Amino acid sequence: MSKTIVVVGATGEMGSRVCRLIRRLAPTALLVGTNRSGRGHAELPIHQLEVADREGMAALLTTADLVINAVGPYTYDPAPLVHAAISSRCHYADLSEQLAFVERVREVGEQRAAAKAGVLVLPGCSTVPGLVDVLAQRWQGDSEVAGLRVFLSMGSRNPVTRALLSSLLQPIGRKGPSGRWFDKLVAHEVLDGRELYFGPYPVPFSNGQVRLGQRLLPIHFHMGFDRRALNRMLALAAPMLGRLSPRWVERFASIALPVAKLARNLGTERGILSVVAEDADGRERGRTEVIAETAGLDIPALPAAWLTQALVREGWAAAPGVRSLSRVIDAQQAAVALVEAGYAVQIR
Ligand SMILES: NC(=O)c1ccc[n+]([C@@H]2O[C@H](COP(=O)([O-])OP(=O)(O)OC[C@H]3O[C@@H](n4cnc5c(N)ncnc54)[C@H](OP(=O)(O)O)[C@@H]3O)[C@@H](O)[C@H]2O)c1
Repeated sequence: MSKTIVVVGATGEMGSRVCRLIRRLAPTALLVGTNRSGRGHAELPIHQLEVADREGMAALLTTADLVINAVGPYTYDPAPLVHAAISSRCHYADLSEQLAFVERVREVGEQRAAAKAGVLVLPGCSTVPGLVDVLAQRWQGDSEVAGLRVFLSMGSRNPVTRALLSSLLQPIGRKGPSGRWFDKLVAHEVLDGRELYFGPYPVPFSNGQVRLGQRLLPIHFHMGFDRRALNRMLALAAPMLGRLSPRWVERFASIALPVAKLARNLGTERGILSVVAEDADGRERGRTEVIAETAGLDIPALPAAWLTQALVREGWAAAPGVRSLSRVIDAQQAAVALVEAGYAVQIR
């Protein structure tokens, strides 16, 4: 029997990518979208529904197998949607990179006994934390690995939306455990020998730790753009951004959006995700790099399509309950799927 997938925020930048990739990877899945404005979509029916409308969502999800929440920025309470999914016995996933959001989804999933209801609850089913967690599992059996460093370089020619810009700017300049986010740039040499620049950025893993088998290891995240000047500008703006309230950062993102769109002309589409394992002395033990020459913005949308593919193929995506992406796909399968999608994956 064909599966029904509801994409919440299907008309957005990420939501429409998720829909396109599901069509490609799981063509038998029946796609239904929602948004708040009622704006239509050329290829799927759209229901006009507020993400916080628990009853409306529950009614829609009764006949669905999986709901993918692509409504960003992820600064609202996900509880109504997660409740609606569990009460309708519909699996739930989102693309959030916000730790508070991810933790709240997990909390509601546990409170509402998702496992008992036979429902899979998977927050952060995207690049970070999802794909990073999956790629890190490669070192599960290596007891010498004592921590991980992740570097994400984004191509500044990629499309930019207010939600993306606002999500990206929110943490910049705010206080982290060791200084302010993105206040200093660090250099990281990627496998093709180029030196790229990154700023420290919050990692959406609880307590800054990633689980590798029985061990919890520290994980540090660095974010940057292909253009060094853009990273410099962000580092310079960090003290000012850190003083703004989240609402003002959203307003700032709206004002800065036309400038960001213009800056696209100067950038490239090249994106790199570099996941580095280190020993206790900080020496590199190995790394996995994913390189996107083009279409890098499809990568955060791919894991939701993999999840749909698993659901369509196997009937169940994974054991029900609150899970992370590494319970659905392993590091090797992810590398193969990325190569099939047209990206380069280098393993050292
Ligand atoms: N974890 C990762 O690695 C990663 C990577 C990339 C992006 N992301 C996240 O993806 C998020 C999505 O960004 P985007 O660029 O796709 O945003 P976007 O283009 O603004 O799309 C948002 C979608 O949600 C709908 N929507 C907005 N508010 C809603 C509400 N209250 N109720 C129901 N629907 C609503 C919008 O439709 P209408 O406006 O027509 O209602 C639209 O369809 C970003 O915030 C970012 O955090 C995560």
